[in-house]
Amino acid sequence: MNKIVKAEFLSADIKRFIISAPKIAVKRKAGQFVIVRSNSHGERIPLTIADSDPSEGTITLIVQGIGKSTKEINSFETNDYFHDVVGPLGQASEIEYFGTAVSIGGGVGAAIAYPTAVALKEKGNHTISIIGARTKELIILEKEMRAKVDEVYVTTDDGSYGFHGFVTQQLAKLISEQKIDYVLAIGPIPMMKAVAATTRPRNIKTIVSLNPVMVDGTGMCGGCRATVDNKTVFVCVDGPEFDAHKVDFDLLMKRNRTYLTFEKQSLEKQHICNNDKAFELALQAESVTKN
Ligand code: NAD
Ligand code: FES
Repeated sequence: MNKIVKAEFLSADIKRFIISAPKIAVKRKAGQFVIVRSNSHGERIPLTIADSDPSEGTITLIVQGIGKSTKEINSFETNDYFHDVVGPLGQASEIEYFGTAVSIGGGVGAAIAYPTAVALKEKGNHTISIIGARTKELIILEKEMRAKVDEVYVTTDDGSYGFHGFVTQQLAKLISEQKIDYVLAIGPIPMMKAVAATTRPRNIKTIVSLNPVMVDGTGMCGGCRATVDNKTVFVCVDGPEFDAHKVDFDLLMKRNRTYLTFEKQSLEKQHICNNDKAFELALQAESVTKN
């Protein structure tokens, strides 16, 4: 069991958890992830470690409540417990001196890009961060990023804050103005595919962090396989970071949609159960009032 030292919402559906996990806090490197379960029969959810504090024995996870399990996790509060947290898993980010390094976080991807952006800065790179979201309320970690990297650009699809447009438009603008040596892009698959298409003509080294369906996280089940450079890779042990110009994004998108119907059914079932529970509680309350 891992205690939640602090839980707070960063935006409507995105929550930050600081969790007691002393051994992981000491060992983890930027780019690695953990697999968590909210309860003993819970789904195994892979989450990139956004930050850690070895002296406090804590790690930071940022969760977007999309499906049944992530919504369940986001109902956790300070002093609640995760059933288990396993890690650190996966390969660490390649942190070198590249020159000018741009990290791009789309939506909750900003949480995953953050530790690598910080590590690239510590390595002496001139670091630029692009944080994009659909609208102003969904922008996360802007303050934290500004405190650590050299330049931050914010984009919103609806123009409610920062540059009006996609992260790729901001990236194209930067590429036309200066020499960019390295790009890290983390976010929805269409975004990562579009970033790869933007940097390919200039042959800019571009890395993406993939998030396929994962089960065991140890390379045994094959659930997380993706195709990179025409070869099958297991993202949990070979990645999660890969050369963006070699990833088959269309296949990844197709595989990630495999369980969409089951995920929707599971979420609907949870709503029905919650409604049943609410109905039951209302009946109980009514009976207490009457008696
Ligand atoms: P979103 O759909 O709101 O997109 C975020 C930003 O990405 C947009 O504001 C835009 O700037 C950019 N973008 C999106 N589609 C684009 C396109 N076709 N071309 C260019 N830019 C585009 O993101 P969200 O709703 O916050 O969802 C986050 C997504 O990230 C989820 O689908 C989740 O599964 C995924 N995710 C990925 C990782 C990972 O490791 N890659 C980790 C966690 C979550
Ligand atoms: Fe099972 Fe990667 S999650 S092989």
